[in-house]
Amino acid sequence: STGGSDEAKRNAGESAAEAVKDGMVVGLGTGSTAAHAIRAIGRAVDAGMDIRGVPTSFQSRQLARKEGIPLTDLDSVSEIDLAIDGTDQFAGGSLIKGGGAAHAREKVVDSAAKRFLVVADPSKEAERLDHPVPVEVLPPARTTVAADIRELGGEPTLREAERKDGPVVTDNGNLVLDCSFGEIHSPRELTRSLASIPGVVEHGLFVGMADEIHVGTDDGAEIR
Ligand code: A5P
Repeated sequence: STGGSDEAKRNAGESAAEAVKDGMVVGLGTGSTAAHAIRAIGRAVDAGMDIRGVPTSFQSRQLARKEGIPLTDLDSVSEIDLAIDGTDQFAGGSLIKGGGAAHAREKVVDSAAKRFLVVADPSKEAERLDHPVPVEVLPPARTTVAADIRELGGEPTLREAERKDGPVVTDNGNLVLDCSFGEIHSPRELTRSLASIPGVVEHGLFVGMADEIHVGTDDGAEIR
């Protein structure tokens, strides 16, 4: 969780949660902004709305359970009607996600959704993407992937855990390289290059996926 006020995050999350309707299967995103949407959905479920959630991480599963949202998974549903997820940075319609190392499952769920709503506070907006791109890698491929990233002009840094000695291990048992490319001029091209590196499980560039971005402020939300 970064930048903006909790009020802005809440307004973004609650704005997107209004799109959740009875009978839907809903992708539940990760992070502090998506958490506000999950809590709002929990209140709607309390009030009688019948939906099922597909979590994108350990964190969103735990929160959804606590909020009493019935859960399912991708194996059990034919489609996801709507996904709501946060982001670490956005520019135009492109996102960089994975600040919480959840981007692999997030990308699977968010891209499977018929509609994907992003929730963000204004501190996430950039003119051009320049945030380091999180790249989830199979542990034995860490050094070969790092070399390939350098060849693409990126500077990879193994993400270290804060409350543990050693690296961050994802919900999928993998490692994360935070890869700085400076300003990203062609997110679409970088998407293809990163995806073609052997050992890359998933990277945090989400290009052309978002249908709406709900940007919260201290007194409301704007839909882009
Ligand atoms: C998780 O890995 C990310 O993709 C999150 O969706 C992102 O970090 C958003 O979190 P906040 O809403 O707390 O900033």
